[in-house]
Amino acid sequence: MTKPPALEARGITKAFPGVLANDHVDLRLAQGEIHALLGENGAGKTTLMNILYGLYQQDEGQVFIGGQEVDIHSPNEAIAHGIGMVHQHFMLIPVMTVAENIMLGVEPRTARSRWLGFIGQLDYRRVESRVRELSSQHSLEVDPTALVQTLSVGAQQRVEIMKALYRQARILILDEPTAVLTPQESEELFQIMRSLAERGTSIIFITHKLKEVFAVADRITVMRNGQVVGSTTPEQATEQQLASMMVGREVLLRLSKAPAHPKEAVLSLENLSVNDDRGQKAVREVTLRVRAGEILGIAGVQGNGQTELVEALTGLRPIALGQVRIGEKTLKETSPRQIMEQGVGHIPEDRQKRGLVLRYSVEDNLVLCTYYQRPFAKGLIIQHEAIEENARRLIEEFDIRTPSARTPAGTLSGGNQQKVIVARELSRPIKLLIAAQPTRGLDVGSIEFLHRRLIEQRDAGYAVLLVSAELDEILALSDRIAVMYKGEIIDTLPAEQATREEIGLLMAGVGGHKTSPARQPVEVN
Ligand SMILES: Nc1ncnc2c1ncn2[C@@H]1O[C@H](COP(=O)(O)OP(=O)(O)OP(=O)(O)O)[C@@H](O)[C@H]1O
Ligand SMILES: [Mg+2]
Repeated sequence: MTKPPALEARGITKAFPGVLANDHVDLRLAQGEIHALLGENGAGKTTLMNILYGLYQQDEGQVFIGGQEVDIHSPNEAIAHGIGMVHQHFMLIPVMTVAENIMLGVEPRTARSRWLGFIGQLDYRRVESRVRELSSQHSLEVDPTALVQTLSVGAQQRVEIMKALYRQARILILDEPTAVLTPQESEELFQIMRSLAERGTSIIFITHKLKEVFAVADRITVMRNGQVVGSTTPEQATEQQLASMMVGREVLLRLSKAPAHPKEAVLSLENLSVNDDRGQKAVREVTLRVRAGEILGIAGVQGNGQTELVEALTGLRPIALGQVRIGEKTLKETSPRQIMEQGVGHIPEDRQKRGLVLRYSVEDNLVLCTYYQRPFAKGLIIQHEAIEENARRLIEEFDIRTPSARTPAGTLSGGNQQKVIVARELSRPIKLLIAAQPTRGLDVGSIEFLHRRLIEQRDAGYAVLLVSAELDEILALSDRIAVMYKGEIIDTLPAEQATREEIGLLMAGVGGHKTSPARQPVEVN
C-alpha cells in the first residue's frame, strides 16, 4: 500500500468580492516532498495557503492530512494538525527577542514578557534551550536571545521557520521565502529545506524564481487565474515552459537593449556618508553620478549600505557628511515630499511600510504623491473623475489584477501591490528614478514588462538608479555597474565589460580600485 499524501486539497474554491481567487484547486503534497507552487501575480497561491493554514475558510472543497479529512478554522488548529507557515510578509514583533516571538501563541501566559515573574522566567529559559536544541539539530542558526529588530532578513526568516519547527510542524508552507533573501541566504535556506525534507517534513514552496524551482523542488504545480493549470517535475519541464504555463503566453526571459546615450548628470553624490540606526557609518564617502539616459545599477550583497544610501537619497534618513545634488540643487535636510517634488521617483524596498497605504484604495494609492496637484486637484477641490481615469489607465497598462479601483490596496496579492507602486512612480513626471528591488515579488511576465519599461524610460531621458540583490537583473538592465561593499563603492564598470564572475568577486570585496592600486577607477566624469 502506498502512503497517503502528507496533505491533499480537493476542489478548493474561494471567492472574494469580485474575484474567484481559488477555483476548484487540487493539490497533492507527498511525504517528505518539496513541492513548488508557481503562478502569476494574483493566481491564488497565497489564498490557497491561507486556507490550509486556517486563516481563511474555503467556500467549497476538502483538505486531507495523512488521508484523514480535516476542518481547519484557525492557525491554532492548523498547527495542531502539524502545519506551519512562513508568510510572504513576516509576522514577527521587532521589539521582542527571538524566544519571545517563538513563545507567542504557544505559551500565551508568558509570551508577552521575559520579566513576568518566576513561572515566566522558567518557561522562557525552557524555550531558549529548546530553540538552541532545534538550531543545532537542523543547522538552523538562530540565537534565541537576540532582539528581532537587530536581525538580518535572512535571520528573521530562520526565526519564522524555527517557530514552525518549535510547534512540531511536519508540513511547512513557505510563501515566497526567497523574495527577500540574498542568493547566499537562499542557498542556505535550500540546504535547510533539503535537510528537513530528508527527515520527512513536507514543504510547499512558493517562488517566482524559476531557477530555484530547478534547484530544490521535487514536484511543481502551476496556477493561473485561480485554477491549477498543470503539475510536473523539474526533470520534465524547462524554464521557458513553466514561464508560459504561468502567464499563458510566451515570455522573453532574456532582454535585448540598445546602448545608452547618457547626457547631463541628474544625481551627483560627493563623498556621501550616511549612518545606520546604531549611528555606525553604513555609507562611506560615496562619490558617483547618474546621468539622464542611463541606468546605473548598484550591485552588492544586501546589508552593505544600499538600503541606507537609498533612504538618504529619498529623504528618509539624514545625510551625515558630503553632498547630494539633484540636477543643480543641493539636498539639505529635505523631506521625502520635497525630494519627490524635485522629480524623484522611488520604488522602495519595503512596499508595505513605505510604498503603500494599505487601507487606501488602489486609485488613491496611485495618486499618493500627486493628489494635491493638477489634474487631481484644482485648488482645494479633489477631482475624483481625474483620479478614477488615472486608475483606469494604469490598471490596464500595468496589468494590475484588482477587482476594482476602489479595492483597498492591502487586499491585493503581493505582486499586484508592487505593481501599484511601480505604476504610480512611473506615471508621474520625474527625471530620476530610484528603484530598490523593483521586481521583488513580480511574476516572470511582469518582470519582463517592467524591464522593458525601465529601458524605455531610460531612452526617454530618465536617470535610473537601480539597486537590486538580483545579479541577473543588474546585468540585464544596467549601463554601468557600481559595486557596493561595506558602505563603499569599490568599483564602477561599464556593463558591457562586466562579467558575472568579476562582479561576484567585487561583491565579496575582492579587487576593485579601492583595494587594488593597480586598477584605475572607471568613473570618469
Ligand atoms: N483578503 C482578501 N480580500 C479580498 N481579496 C483578496 C484577499 N486576499 C486575496 N484576494 C484576491 O485574491 C486573488 C488571489 O490573490 P493571492 O494573494 O492568492 O495571489 P498570489 O498567487 O499569492 O499572487 P502573488 O504572486 O502576487 O503573491 C487576488 O485577486 C487578490 O486580490
Ligand atoms: Mg502571494
